[in-house]
Amino acid sequence: MPGDKSISHRALILSSLADGESTVRGILDSEDVQSTANVLRALGVEIPPLAETVRIRGRGLRGLRHPRAALDCGNSGTTTRLMAGVVAAHPFSARFLGDASLSRRPMKRIAEPLTYMGAQFEFEHGDGLPMTVHGVDLRSVDWDTGGSSAQVKSAILLAGLVSAVEVRVTEKSLSRDHTERMLRAMGVDVENDRSQVCLRPSSRLNAIEINVPADPSSAAFFVALASMVPEGELTLTDVCLNPTRTGFFQALRRMGANLEEKLTMSSAGEEIGSVRVTPATLRSTRITAEEVPAIIDELPLLACVAAGAGVELEISGAAELRVKESDRISTVVQNLRAVGANVEELADGLRVLRGRADLSGTIDPRRDHRIAMAFGILSAATGNRITVKDPEVVAVSYPRFWDDLRRVIVA
Ligand code: S3P
Repeated sequence: MPGDKSISHRALILSSLADGESTVRGILDSEDVQSTANVLRALGVEIPPLAETVRIRGRGLRGLRHPRAALDCGNSGTTTRLMAGVVAAHPFSARFLGDASLSRRPMKRIAEPLTYMGAQFEFEHGDGLPMTVHGVDLRSVDWDTGGSSAQVKSAILLAGLVSAVEVRVTEKSLSRDHTERMLRAMGVDVENDRSQVCLRPSSRLNAIEINVPADPSSAAFFVALASMVPEGELTLTDVCLNPTRTGFFQALRRMGANLEEKLTMSSAGEEIGSVRVTPATLRSTRITAEEVPAIIDELPLLACVAAGAGVELEISGAAELRVKESDRISTVVQNLRAVGANVEELADGLRVLRGRADLSGTIDPRRDHRIAMAFGILSAATGNRITVKDPEVVAVSYPRFWDDLRRVIVA
């Protein structure tokens, strides 16, 4: 499986801010991670081409340089929000740009805390991109996000790190904690207490050696497939098993899947292990608000699994899905209907009801990588013909997805 996208972004950003040379092995080479690499290059960091081993000479905290042009974040929310936190604490201004999807995504959630800390934000329309961040020496903050977003939490932590001030962030429930784990591995005093995190000022960030584990969100597609087909067995190795990311595996197990996780090692504070899956008869389930953060990116896939297995699924408390790469509630509902499934749309989720078994047709992922892959799995698992428009959008997070899918089916 390809490297974890969230950890790859953080490895590039934190190595760039460290003192000395960091080594990153197994980084994900995808469009989103390339966006982070390009933004860092525009800010003066020498990031070599993304390869199996990448060595990065950090510029130290506050060592970034004023960019000569706008920072193009492509389709990547993580690039935008994390780098806005970093830029907000540097003594210069930068304009952030993105594609049509990213330009519609809300940035007020980071602009508010960072403005409170002293930075200034300028928007050209609403609270989306393009946005200009004017950085300064920031002050300390104790911020309650009112939600659960690792991008917002990380923007505040990075702003505090670069400005060397204490920051505290409280969330409704703990979002993925990769930033905290990597910072601790680099010598920073960061404490997590359930859904609260506190970062204390540091004068430097130590360089690091990181082995990026495989992405559990990419693994989820093949875990789903191996659970739904009538025969076969699949083992995925070196997968990130950080509990803030494994909600899909838990939900699938609750649906009756034969899925075994085994921890084998750790790197830069992350638990890593293998996942073994054999086919099973799946049953209905429900996903509620508390479970959502650890399964947020896999909810479209879970809906496709339920439809393909002919079981019921209710997802609630997941309104965040509406502000992802597409409005994932509406994209999933409309595409499941397009292939003949019986689905209801809720304001904060959806319901998959029992329906036809011969799901087939053409779907439009609205240029959303995870929707394209979820329907690719639905097609492969049921053996039904589902045509996915714009299949190349998978390059955002998993460029080799269709090749890997062909490989497991033929093998
Ligand atoms: C991410 C955080 C999540 C997730 C996204 C990656 C990250 O977004 O959906 O795919 O790497 O921090 P939010 O912070 O908006 O919840």
